[in-house]
Amino acid sequence: MTDTRDRITIRRPDDWHVHLRDGAMLAAVAPFTAGQFSRAIIMPNLSPPVTSAAGAAAYRDRIMAALPAGCDFTPLMTCYLTDDADADDLASGHAAGIFTAAKLYPAHATTNSAHGVTDVAHIMPVLERMQVIGMPLLVHGEVTDGDIDIFDREAVFIERILAKLIRDLPGLKVVFEHITTEQAVQFVDGAGPNIAATITPHHLHINRNAMFAGGIRPHAYCLPVAKRERHRLALRRAATSGSAKFFLGTDSAPHEIHAKESACGCAGIFNAPYALESYAAVFDEEAALDRLEGFASVHGPNFYGLPLNDAMVTLHRAENPVPDDIEAAGSRLVPFHAGSGLAWKILPS
Ligand code: DOR
Ligand code: ZN
Repeated sequence: MTDTRDRITIRRPDDWHVHLRDGAMLAAVAPFTAGQFSRAIIMPNLSPPVTSAAGAAAYRDRIMAALPAGCDFTPLMTCYLTDDADADDLASGHAAGIFTAAKLYPAHATTNSAHGVTDVAHIMPVLERMQVIGMPLLVHGEVTDGDIDIFDREAVFIERILAKLIRDLPGLKVVFEHITTEQAVQFVDGAGPNIAATITPHHLHINRNAMFAGGIRPHAYCLPVAKRERHRLALRRAATSGSAKFFLGTDSAPHEIHAKESACGCAGIFNAPYALESYAAVFDEEAALDRLEGFASVHGPNFYGLPLNDAMVTLHRAENPVPDDIEAAGSRLVPFHAGSGLAWKILPS
């Protein structure tokens, strides 16, 4: 099934979940995100993490300095919540327009999450304040218990933590980030309008077999890890459904090639260079190109209470080869779809 159209024009999209890193890596990857998206929610899992409004403002300045002058891109900053997060600093950072949202990493769930929250009970006062001021909570939804199978960690997080959190704080705006399971789709679908989810391009394209196709494939490894095919299909249905609860968040997460191709490879898929084309391929295959704009450019700003972008972007059906790797920060990054290609291309504006 593919759409019959060869060209589609949509409002310029935003990326509601991206890792831009810092230093030389930031300089290498930020132009890819700013080249495709008008705004992006910037993940705070630097080392050390971004936990204060002052730290976020300084990071925002470094992001802008990494982009060509006059570049029309707005980084939306987030606060990394720790067990001793301060509700006053968070609220004043939000009021000052520095923090758009706060991110909950369960401690040790993923890259640079060692300072994350060990028990949601520790941050209840902070979450209560966020509910009052309407500040969204962005959730990495996986339990971290070693005795829970890695493929079950998202579903168990819903049962043990998220369902209760939403019962206790029924007005809190929550984005369930990078969902990977049919349980997450059902949970978000069944919750109120204050609960939404982002979906990555990679979880729409690959299932868990991709990590083991003819050998171990570190570039298909990310967290939450890709699941069975039936989960991928549930995500494709959700993304292309037209529901305002699901929107674009790439979770582009660059790691140098040697850190991926290692005895203990890092989690993360670098999809920023071809993100929109990658999503367009999915919507085309699902004969849902007419719903790409909602997912990429409308549902996210509406959820966050931000204006829609005025600029437009056109994609057309054309061969778009993806290189094996891209030079970055004195090393190389392997982009998602490396070595193959995409059937969609962005028309230069
Ligand atoms: O695969 C991932 N990579 N998942 C995350 O949650 C973090 C990210 C990273 O920062 O590398
Ligand atoms: Zn992420």
